[in-house]
Amino acid sequence: MIITMVKELDQKSEVLILSLFENDNLKHYSFELDKEISELIKKNIFSLKFGEIYGTKVKDWSYRKVIVLGLGKKEELTLEKVRRVMGKLIKCVKGLKAESVCTNVAEEILLIKSFKLNDLGKAVGEGLLLAEYEFAKYLSKEKLDKKKIINNVSLILNREVSEDFVQGLKIGRIIAEATNFAKDLVNEPASICTPVYVEKIAQKVADDNKKVKIRILNYEELKKEGLNSFLGVSKGSPIAARLIFLEYNNGAGEKAAIIGKGITFDSGGYNLKMTGYIEDMKSDMAGAAAVLAIIKLAAELNLKRDILGVIPLCENMIGGSAQKPGDIVKAYNGKTVEIRNTDAEGRLILADALAYTEAKYKPSSMIDLATLTGACVIALGYYASGIMGKDEGLIKNLVEAGEKSGDRVWELPFYEDYQDAMDGTISDLRNTSGKGKGYEGGAINGGVFLSKFVVKAKWAHIDIAGPAFVIEESDYLQKGGTGAGVRLLSYYFMGD
Ligand code: BES
Ligand code: MG
Ligand code: ZN
Repeated sequence: MIITMVKELDQKSEVLILSLFENDNLKHYSFELDKEISELIKKNIFSLKFGEIYGTKVKDWSYRKVIVLGLGKKEELTLEKVRRVMGKLIKCVKGLKAESVCTNVAEEILLIKSFKLNDLGKAVGEGLLLAEYEFAKYLSKEKLDKKKIINNVSLILNREVSEDFVQGLKIGRIIAEATNFAKDLVNEPASICTPVYVEKIAQKVADDNKKVKIRILNYEELKKEGLNSFLGVSKGSPIAARLIFLEYNNGAGEKAAIIGKGITFDSGGYNLKMTGYIEDMKSDMAGAAAVLAIIKLAAELNLKRDILGVIPLCENMIGGSAQKPGDIVKAYNGKTVEIRNTDAEGRLILADALAYTEAKYKPSSMIDLATLTGACVIALGYYASGIMGKDEGLIKNLVEAGEKSGDRVWELPFYEDYQDAMDGTISDLRNTSGKGKGYEGGAINGGVFLSKFVVKAKWAHIDIAGPAFVIEESDYLQKGGTGAGVRLLSYYFMGD
């Protein structure tokens, strides 16, 4: 998709989408249009409320269709609404099977002075390119041919084209493309997207970017180093586990490690998942996909940061050699863990990844992204990830990055009272809670378990189980993988 700046109606796109704020003067693009809109408003048929769409009868121009899109009240505009409006616009264009569109959205929103032009540019770029995405590679040619690719979006900007806005657009595009890259990995079926496949993609990220170095620990090395909590999970699979480190060094400051859960399929193991719960478990590597995407993006944006991406990869399967409930493993940090439930596997692989990363790389902060618990989906649904940890400063920064990026996180309590839930009886720890019925506060207990594997780094755990894979499309995200965590950590690392 090419984004072009034009000074006025381009007269050559297939579709024209004019956006207007509520209670604003009409823009006099054409007499016909003004007349039609004001009549509709008078008759209470159309009101320019945010997201309202109306297909006009206007035939003044060469456009195949002229659509009016409501922006709502000026004072209520947010960056998230900008993304959403761009998403609605792209959906309209797709619905019309058009290949090009001209719009005045940028012209309108740039009038609002409370936003930085750069931020508006980012939101426009993100909205357009996130909404354009489709996972279409498995559609047959017949179905694919019916779809049209949007070649060009003309943004009307009848003023000095601001460098800041254009720069923001470029950054927004890179952020969206990295997010779409993560969506692709999550949507890919688990028969293709195995630990071997993800390793190949990671290798490519490193090959394509000089500033990224890769290190891969294979089965023998993991065994030798004693990452038995991780290896236990992979025992039921013929595909060996691997632990990938992607080092992006381009700063002089503190090293931040980001660790992503990479279970390429979670069957639950012997605590097998039931129908209704197992179908989308190819998405259990969404944390890993996000980490890969963020490293790729850091390199493309040349962020002045030192970021270490850590990706533990394996499958959680059943079979003659699979781990059993009641087994006890000794983790990398020496703590023993009783496997009470083979389906609580994410924490087992992350525990070793966190402990090993801290011991060997000594990062000052560690942020893990994981589709860790169904309990988090129950608690927060699909529109916020859960965040917890003991470093309030780190959490505050992440919550702020979430608000700004629209990839939101909500802090869960992490009181002292919770901290003994994962203590074992015949082992140091157990992988499910020993308190009450075992499932109360399930999202928090997952975090409590992980905290036992962090010594002194600032650490935050982000449970993306809800937002990472959604069952309904929204304005700029599609059903399936969403790339949750990518925009969040992009904004966090860009830090303004
Ligand atoms: N991958 C799942 C969590 C999950 C559930 C992610 C739904 C996305 C959607 C995780 O490995 C898991 O199975 N967790 C268990 C933990 C329980 C056994 C303590 C769960 O949530 O049921
Ligand atoms: Mg599981
Ligand atoms: Zn899982």
